[in-house]
Amino acid sequence: MAIPTETVYGLAGNALSEEAILKIYAAKKRPKFNPLIAHTNSLEKVSQLVQAIPPEAQLLADRFWPGPLTILLDKKSNIPDLLTSGLDRVAIRIPNLSLTLILLENLPFPLAAPSANPFGYVSPTRAHHVQDQLGETIPYILDGGSCKIGLESTIVGFEAGEVVIYRLGGTRVEEIEEIVGEVRINVNESSNPAAPGMLKSHYSPGRKLIIGDIGGNLKNLNPETTGVLSFKDSYDVPLQNQVILSKSGDLDEAARNIFSALRQFDRPEIEVILAEYLPKEGLGKAINDRLRRAAV
Ligand code: TXA
Ligand code: MG
Repeated sequence: MAIPTETVYGLAGNALSEEAILKIYAAKKRPKFNPLIAHTNSLEKVSQLVQAIPPEAQLLADRFWPGPLTILLDKKSNIPDLLTSGLDRVAIRIPNLSLTLILLENLPFPLAAPSANPFGYVSPTRAHHVQDQLGETIPYILDGGSCKIGLESTIVGFEAGEVVIYRLGGTRVEEIEEIVGEVRINVNESSNPAAPGMLKSHYSPGRKLIIGDIGGNLKNLNPETTGVLSFKDSYDVPLQNQVILSKSGDLDEAARNIFSALRQFDRPEIEVILAEYLPKEGLGKAINDRLRRAAV
């Protein structure tokens, strides 16, 4: 079934069951070298899944859980290798949505949940996004309304005493650094075998996407067949071909809107999408990362 979280909707199943995990991979058409995140509702349950919680992980968990942060920790043997694609670490998160926390509280197992989209496509931030693409494939969608954050969780891990960010996401880098000091950011697929899911081409809206000077690029294009995805300015294209992420220039609002905006342009008449990078601060960094991957 699909479950809501504060980041994006997830496609959930028993994280301790190989059968359930295989069903998730199949429904998403996701390659099995791309491991899944286990979701649970308490630190006590987390400790049953991992070898140890190092001090820095404890600090991050205390500060950000429940919330949009996934932590990689050495797994215990009760975690199926299929969940982690054979890696020694398991990705764990306590999501911050009461409906889903109640569900997790009442389950005797953690839930594996990748984003509830077909592999390579934009992540879902509304129940109907899931219904549109996977409605025929999965039996049930728990509707929790629109996701409050709108971007997937930030993924962190620890390597030889260093805190490493493997995916930029809903928890800001600046906030993490306030807790554990300077971190290393390693989000590039080629140099990042630890997070094999951070493929360069991802979040594809099924259209060519060009990032840069929207006004300049628009001069050479037909506005009727061009989608414009701007941060705060409006452009001279038909209303239905334009999404302004945040008129007031609020990066959190832009994050909430980015994925549904990309989906909005997946229409036959749209040939190309013009977008622009957002300020490189707060959630702007993660939004830019998603745009870059959508543009490949
Ligand atoms: O916000 C989120 O994280 C959402 C919601 C549903 O919780 N989930 C999500 O899952 O985005 P997914 O599967 O779409 O992305 C998980 C990412 C992938 O890039 C995967 O490679 C990485 O986490 N990952 C999972 N387990 C890992 C592990 N053991 N080691 C390294 N990377 C891992
Ligand atoms: Mg995903």
